[in-house]
Amino acid sequence: MSAPREQFSSKAGFIMAAAGSAVGLGNIWGFPTQTATNGGGAFVLVYFILAFMLAYPALMAELIIGRHARANVFTALRGIATGPFTRKLGSLIGGYGVIVASFILSFYAIIAGWMLAFMVEPVALMLGFPSVAEWLTTFSLERNIITAALFMGLTMAIIASGIENGIEKWSSRLMPMLLSLLLALIIYVLNQDGAMEGLRVYLSPDLSRINPPLILDALGQAFFSLSLGVGTMLIYGSYLSREESLPKLGAWVTLVDCGIAFIAGLLIIPAIYVAQAHGTQVFTEAGDLIAGPDLIFQVLPSLFNSMGSIGPVVGLTFFVLMSVAAVTSSISMLEVPVSLVSEETRASRPQATLIIGALIFCASTVTLLNFDVMFGLIIDITTVYSQPLLGLGLCVFAGWIWHRDNLLKEIQAGHPDIADSWFWKIWPTYVRFFCPLLILAAFGQSLVG
Ligand code: PHE
Repeated sequence: MSAPREQFSSKAGFIMAAAGSAVGLGNIWGFPTQTATNGGGAFVLVYFILAFMLAYPALMAELIIGRHARANVFTALRGIATGPFTRKLGSLIGGYGVIVASFILSFYAIIAGWMLAFMVEPVALMLGFPSVAEWLTTFSLERNIITAALFMGLTMAIIASGIENGIEKWSSRLMPMLLSLLLALIIYVLNQDGAMEGLRVYLSPDLSRINPPLILDALGQAFFSLSLGVGTMLIYGSYLSREESLPKLGAWVTLVDCGIAFIAGLLIIPAIYVAQAHGTQVFTEAGDLIAGPDLIFQVLPSLFNSMGSIGPVVGLTFFVLMSVAAVTSSISMLEVPVSLVSEETRASRPQATLIIGALIFCASTVTLLNFDVMFGLIIDITTVYSQPLLGLGLCVFAGWIWHRDNLLKEIQAGHPDIADSWFWKIWPTYVRFFCPLLILAAFGQSLVG
C-alpha cells in the first residue's frame, strides 16, 4: 500500500505557503516598478480591482480542481476530462503548464541568484574582502552560474523535504520574516528626504492615465503575482484538507498578495525619490523611470552607498528580503514538475527533486550562456504569453468541461452553505465568460503590443 498523500497541517500553514508562492519578486519588484511607470496610484487602483475580479476567480478554479483531483496539474486535468478530446486537451494544458513552470523557475533562479550575490556583498565588505564584494556585484558568467546554482540548491533542499516539513515549515518561517523586514525598511526610508514626494505619486491616482494598455498590464501582473496558470496553486490546493472553505482561503491568499504588493510600493517608490534627492539619476534621458534590473541593482545600491555607515545594513536587509520573497515562490514552481514525476513514476520525492532540479539548472545555464538572446525571450514566452493562455485553459476546464455538480460538491466540502452564497451565484459565470474573454483580450493586446 502506498503512503497516504501528504497535506498541509493547518489552514495557516496553507495560507503561508500559498501566499509565499504568490508573494515574490513580482510583488516587491514587478508591482512597484509597474506602478511607477504607469502613472502611480491609477495602476494600483486598477490592479486591485482586477486582482479581485479576475485573478481571484481564476485562483479559485485552480484550488478547486486541485483539491478535487488530489494530483498534479497534468493528472488532474486528465482526470476531470469528460471524453477523449478533453482528455487530450487536459494532457496538453497540464503538460504545457509543467513545462512553463519549469522554465519560469529557470530564469527566476538566475535573478534570485543575483539577489543572493547582492545580499552577501555588504557582508564581504564588512569582513574586509573588497575584491569578493566586487566580484559579487559585477555581471559575469561565473558569478551568474554559481549564484543560480546556490539558489537552485536551496530550493531543491526545501522541496526534497516534502509538504509539511519543507514547503509549509519554511514558508511559515520566512513569510513573517519578510513582512518584518519590509516594515523595518519602510519606516527607515519614509524618514529620508524625498520620500514624501514618492508617497504622493504612489497614493494619488491620476485617473486620466487609465487606458487599455494599463488595464492589460495590470491583468498580466495580477496573473504572474498570484502564480496562476502553471498549476502551482492547483498542486497547493491538492494538499488541502476537505474541511477547509476554499473561497475563504483563496480570498485570504489574494488579500495577502495584494497587501504585500501595496506595502512593497510604500518602500520602493519612496526609495526611488530618496535616491533622486541623494543625487542618483532615476529617470532616463527620455524622462522614463529607470525600471527593471537597473533599478534594483544600480539605483537602490547607489542609494544604500550614499547612506553612510547604516548603508550596508539597509542594503543587506533589502536583499535578504528579496531572497526570502524569491525562495518561497521558487519552491512552489519546483513543486509542479516534482509532484508530477513523483506521482506518476516510481521515483521518490528526493530523487525527483534531484533530477528535475538538475535539468532546470541546465536550462538556466544554457540561458546564461546565451544571455542576450534568451533571457528576455524566455521571460516573455513564459509570463507574457503562456501564463495567460494557460489560465484561460484552466478557466475553460473549470467553467465548461468539468460537470457543474462535481464542482459544487467540491466547494461544498468545508463550506456546506455555499450554494446560497454570493460566491456560487457569481463565480461559475465568471470562470465561464468573463475570465476567458478578458484573458483573450489581454493576450491579443500583448500580441499586438
Ligand atoms: N508569484 C510569483 C511572484 O510574484 C511568481 C510565480 C509565478 C510563482 C508562477 C509561481 C508560479 O514572484
